[in-house]
Amino acid sequence: MNNGEKKNMTVKTFGVIGSGQMGNGIAQVAAASGLQVVMSDVKQEFAEKGLAAIGKNLNRLVEKEKISQADGQAILSRVKITTNLEDMAAADYVVEAATEREELKFGIFRELDRICPPHVILGTNTSSIPIGRIAAQTDRPEKVIGMHFMNPVPVMKLVEVIRGLATSDETFSITWQLCEKFGKTPAEANDFPGFIANRILMPMINEAIFCLYQSVGKKEDIDTVMKLGMNHPMGPLALADLIGLDTCLAIMETLYDGFKDSKYRPCPLLRKYVEAGWLGRKSGKGFYTY
Ligand code: CAA
Repeated sequence: MNNGEKKNMTVKTFGVIGSGQMGNGIAQVAAASGLQVVMSDVKQEFAEKGLAAIGKNLNRLVEKEKISQADGQAILSRVKITTNLEDMAAADYVVEAATEREELKFGIFRELDRICPPHVILGTNTSSIPIGRIAAQTDRPEKVIGMHFMNPVPVMKLVEVIRGLATSDETFSITWQLCEKFGKTPAEANDFPGFIANRILMPMINEAIFCLYQSVGKKEDIDTVMKLGMNHPMGPLALADLIGLDTCLAIMETLYDGFKDSKYRPCPLLRKYVEAGWLGRKSGKGFYTY
């Protein structure tokens, strides 16, 4: 083990790229575990909105007496926001949770590889882009790994930890331990399109959208069938709205491109909604109105 690797065993400052619903959730759980957090976004207003979302979530936990007010304030005070990616130089571990667009993520990883000291692990919260392709943007592919959180991050117990072809055992075990430190249960997946979670979840959601498209059932009935018939906490259409329809479409495209199999064809209705800007909860309208 070289010195750089030893240094990485203790992560004190955790970097999060992106302050959207995944980024701010990840920042919250990292700060709640006692780490200092630097959360970046491209615009100050986005970063502030992300920080405000963390504050609101923590307040809810205080109101429900799950944490004390002092703890809530301490957690929030550990999150610093920035619009300057160079600030990631201070982080011991960075996870990227930017929008699910390949070129965007590639650019971020090229920048992070330049900015972060060589021992720093670069994780990605990508929901389906191959880890190997992201790792290939850097000179440290052995330190690139998938760290895929579920939405809403503070509530969901799972983190899918994805090994790229070059990911080292050291990187894997540090990431696994971090997930546990965050109070999550990690599960290991290999680098195939959609990994495990979205390989299984997204075709189900896409099929539910086909049911709506072909008038097999109304949206409420489709969701009721899956909620009450299969005991899912929410129906697939409501879940698609929670995830974001643009993200659902991006994941289906990745599965379709990756496997070249028509069973992953995105439903035309999903595309139509995304083109209309109906992205689910975040835009106020998806299958349901918010
Ligand atoms: N942030 C923080 N906490 C939240 C929250 C949010 N956005 N939404 C709900 N909660 C909390 C509530 O405050 C509540 O907490 P308490 O139990 O302490 O009171 C708890 O979660 C339950 O919430 P509700 O009672 O309001 O509603 P619910 O019981 O229906 O739970 C839910 C809401 C947790 C979202 C639940 O419906 C659920 O588990 N849905 C499925 C979510 C899912 O499948 N996520 C994975 C999506 S796939 C993904 O993320 C990966 C990808 O790549 C696309």
